[in-house]
Formats: sequence, C-alpha cells, structure tokens
Amino acid sequence: MTIYYQDDAVTLHHSRWEDILPSLPDGSVDHVITDPPYSEKTHKSVRSGRMSANDRGGRYGADVRRVVNLGFDHLTDEERAAAAVEFARLAQRWILTFSDVETCHLWREDLEDAGLDYVRTMAWHRLGGAPQFSGDRPGVAFEAITVAHPKGRKRWNSGGKRGHYSHAIVLDRGHEKVRVHATQKPEPLMAEIIGDFTDFGDLILDAYAGSGTTGVVAKRAGRRAILIEQDERNCESIATRLEKVEPVLTEHIEVEMPPLMEVAGA
Ligand SMILES: C[S@@+](CC[C@H](N)C(=O)[O-])C[C@H]1O[C@@H](n2cnc3c(N)ncnc32)[C@H](O)[C@@H]1O
Repeated sequence: MTIYYQDDAVTLHHSRWEDILPSLPDGSVDHVITDPPYSEKTHKSVRSGRMSANDRGGRYGADVRRVVNLGFDHLTDEERAAAAVEFARLAQRWILTFSDVETCHLWREDLEDAGLDYVRTMAWHRLGGAPQFSGDRPGVAFEAITVAHPKGRKRWNSGGKRGHYSHAIVLDRGHEKVRVHATQKPEPLMAEIIGDFTDFGDLILDAYAGSGTTGVVAKRAGRRAILIEQDERNCESIATRLEKVEPVLTEHIEVEMPPLMEVAGA
C-alpha cells in the first residue's frame, strides 16, 4: 500500500508515479498541475547563495562554484515523454507543467506527441530570486509553465488575462521553517493558477509533489488532489502541511500579494 496520507480532499502516495498512474482509469482526473525536476543543465547550475571571502575575488564578481544538492535527480527525456503520455491519458481538462525556460519546448513537443493541444507557455516571474553571482550574464528571472489541453473546447476562469504570474519565491528562513523543500513553490502562485484553471470540487493530479504545495492550496481552495512523491521525508512534510489546512467553503480564492520585505529578500 503506497498511501502515506489521506483526508476528504487529498490522497498522497509515497511512490514514484510510474508505479501509480498506470492503474488509474482514463480520464480519471480533471487536471494535471505539476512541477517535475528540471533539466540536467539546470540541476547542475544551481548555485549556493552564500559567498566565502575567496569567492568574492573575481573581476566580475564571485566565482561561485558550489552546487546545491536539490535532493532529487534531473528529468530524463524518456521520463518526460512517458509522463506526458500518462498526463494526456488521465486528464479531462488542463495539463500544466513547470520547467526551466530552456526546456519548455521539450514539454510542448512531448505533450503534443501524446495527442494534446499545446495552448500557451506562461511565465512565473520569480520575485526575490537569486542574482547571477558570476556577474558575467543575466540571472534567471522566470520559470516556464507549459499549458496543454485535450483537443476540443477549452475553458478557464480568467477571461483575457495574460499568462504571467508574479510572486515571491519561498525564502529559506531556517528558524521559521516556512521552506521545507529546495524548490518549494509559493502558495500565492499556486492559488492564482488553481483559481484560474480549476473549479470548486475538481480533482488535480500532481505526480511530482515535492513539499505538496499544489495539494495544500487545492485543499484550501475546495479542490481535491492526488499527490505522488518518491521521497519519504517530503511525504512527511506534505502530511504535516495538509493536516493544518482547513478547506474554504466558497469558490472564491483570495490571492495575497507578497509583502515588499519578502520581495526584496530582506
Ligand atoms: C521540483 S520538485 C516539486 C516541488 C513542489 N512543487 C513544491 O512546491 O514543493 C519535484 C519533486 O518530484 C519528486 N520526484 C522526482 N521524480 C519522481 C517520480 N518519478 N515520481 C514521484 N516523485 C518524483 C522529487 O523527489 C521532488 O521532490
């Protein structure tokens, strides 16, 4: 039995999705909203924000070479293609996949190859993200969200709004224990996306749950979720977060803008 946590709204599996999704019937979720590992290049290039005295010596700023271990492997081409096939089989409506900008075209290709309509690539503008410590090129400003949908009529909740989301990253303030995962998505970002694309009571699949932000926000917003996460420590974080969430009883989601202090990383 892989179920690690369950309540009225959310089921969390401690597993790899490859061992869960094939047993789910076609069209058994409303949406897939998921944040898979990024490309090998992005995983390798994640830099520590801390600089030693030696690091600061270079002409163009720091020669920072320390790599942060994200705690999970990068996505392979084979896994991305297989995931796209399962997402296309399972979702009745929207499929949203986060990725680095450099590889979002690969998600587009795989989702189209799986029979879906490619709809749009949206941007999450990462307010408060780390600068480019090497100082020799622009730093990363945003992440991509590839949007796909089964062929046919499409509907979302936000009219002519642009696919641009501007939210502060989750900062690692150790003593507050707000961030429990290296790539944790901010709740206000996921609340805005879930409000735009899904309806009250909908079932959302996140096959790469991490610290469970999609499930936490889905539950609070009166949606349901199936979460899958391979790492048991992350499952424990997800369960702890989910236990504290009270679902709202209306369809309305308040999207709170981050305080300025947090945007500035102060
Ligand atoms: C980018 S993180 C997701 C972060 C998440 N959005 C959050 O807010 O915390 C990707 C997660 O997928 C998990 N993962 C990687 N491959 C997986 C697989 N095949 N099945 C299930 N989980 C997987 C990793 O352990 C990692 O925690």
